[in-house]
Amino acid sequence: MCGIVGAIAGRDVVPVLIEGLKRLEYRGYDSAGIAVVADTGVRRVRRTGRVSEMESAAAAEGFSATLGIGHTRWATHGGVTEDNAHPHISHGELALVHNGIIENHEAQRERLRGLGYAFESQTDTEVIAHLIHHYRAQGADLVGALQQAVRELHGAYAIAVIDKRDPGTMVAARMGCPLLVGLGDGENFVASDVSAIVSSTRRVIFLEEGDTAELTRDAVRIFDADGAPVEREVHVSDVSLASLELGPYRHFMQKEIHEQPRAVADTIEALMDDNAFSAELFGKDAAGVLEGIEAVQILACGTSYYAGLTARYWIEALAGLPCAVDIASEYRYRQVVANPKQLVVTISQSGETLDTMEALKYAKSLGQSRTLSICNVPESAIPRASRLVHYTRAGAEIGVASTKAFTTQLVALFTLAATLAKLRGRLDARQEDELLECLRHLPGSIQHALNLEPQIVAWAELFAPKDHALFLGRGMHYPIALEGALKLKEISYIHAEAYPAGELKHGPLALVDDAMPVVVIAPNDSLLEKVKSNIQEVRARGGQMFVFADADSQFGESEQVNVIRTPRHAGILSPIVHAIPVQLLAYHAALARGTDVDKPRNLAKSVTVE
Ligand code: F6R
Repeated sequence: MCGIVGAIAGRDVVPVLIEGLKRLEYRGYDSAGIAVVADTGVRRVRRTGRVSEMESAAAAEGFSATLGIGHTRWATHGGVTEDNAHPHISHGELALVHNGIIENHEAQRERLRGLGYAFESQTDTEVIAHLIHHYRAQGADLVGALQQAVRELHGAYAIAVIDKRDPGTMVAARMGCPLLVGLGDGENFVASDVSAIVSSTRRVIFLEEGDTAELTRDAVRIFDADGAPVEREVHVSDVSLASLELGPYRHFMQKEIHEQPRAVADTIEALMDDNAFSAELFGKDAAGVLEGIEAVQILACGTSYYAGLTARYWIEALAGLPCAVDIASEYRYRQVVANPKQLVVTISQSGETLDTMEALKYAKSLGQSRTLSICNVPESAIPRASRLVHYTRAGAEIGVASTKAFTTQLVALFTLAATLAKLRGRLDARQEDELLECLRHLPGSIQHALNLEPQIVAWAELFAPKDHALFLGRGMHYPIALEGALKLKEISYIHAEAYPAGELKHGPLALVDDAMPVVVIAPNDSLLEKVKSNIQEVRARGGQMFVFADADSQFGESEQVNVIRTPRHAGILSPIVHAIPVQLLAYHAALARGTDVDKPRNLAKSVTVE
């Protein structure tokens, strides 16, 4: 959702801000702006629409400065208008950008109106600018005014502020939303995401909850929530520029689909080095946390939730543990029956999803302290709030529709299931070797599935004119059907629903006619014969079927039944391999319909609001 970048340097920072905002575009936004402190005071340019439009306006107005802040906004409080776009300015002197939501903004607005402040926007953000201005007017320096102001805010924020009366300083604060400081040579930066500043520096400090920071060109001072100076660890980010650039691909989604053999190989690298499933893969003190658990509770949203649904089959079958999987936004408002001996697993690509974070906090508040985060973004909020962490190594995922994050989450969850099985004495050395061997073959099997792309392109052309589609699967391939339907609807805008194939005759079969394409995930597993019967039910109603099977499934093709086969059955890891063709189908259907594949309408990459 919203993104922040700020820079203080000896060079012109406007290109740094523009490049940073372009790198944050993937998060989803509807307006963008920058403000700089120049010789003439604070200057600002804002536009609804793309960063490139705002960039042209800044160039036309000759923007150039050594201190500035920038923002991409995804509207929450107030519509998509230039007045509501950030930065917000108080009294022509102080400019501020903000991610998050200020819950007590109404009360603060009334109070500030009483103090003579006039409001130009409908945003919750503008109150913060005026509040800091108010404390400056009472004599506080910039960081002191920021510290006084944030004490009065309820809600979540990442903030960066500049002030024309202090042209050598930028200040920042964080609570509930990520913000980091980038350390350069004679220049320093703030950003909500390391990708925004990676061309300038890789040395970063992740601010902690309640921290404030004061940056000059040569120094960074950080203060904790009580205002006391603190030292925070400096990290060297391994985000690569290549992962943020398209290279030879048309879209990030296409690139990321094709990166999956490598992403999966990287995610299992540590496992393959040790040639064993071990608790240490989940953190140093993981054995103590994982031993003796009685159940697993998985919490996640969207595609990550479907990864959790798949994992339930592995956790129950391999580890013999009961496993519940909940949508985080539902769990957090339910009166759940807590079990302190339960492992609570959150799954999140971004590590920022608000509902998942809140569900985790709720689970912990009920005395469930055994928490594990499976996440793709190091040092993000959810892993930081979890006792154990397993980072997937998909690399930066830029396309809004999750692809390589999903398959690497599945790999991490499979590793968890096998590790729990071993800790519980349910995996002997031979079985462990077999599972490791399956994982070793996985990147190759994914590559084989990618090689099916030309056949899938032909199917996508048949799908493109359709308004609706059904996806069917059984057992551990049912979540892959759900994922296929989600991918198709979110990027091609074709309405798609997924059902366990056995549910068809309990209602959805009424929808089937010769205009309804039905995608079936049908690998050669113990449920194949059942799936074949379900296919006959569709066939008898004139439905057009598109079956993803494997070489052993023995499907006869006919006028009504189209089959694409992966070369061999991937055994227990088959759901991961079958995720690839449904991703490709959605991608090529979207391409044929001419939608904005990497930035589908109304969606954001990082969902930091409820
Ligand atoms: C769909 C998609 C979303 C995310 C969901 C959770 O392609 O990407 O459904 O999976 O918003 O996001 P994370 O995993 O970042 O918590």
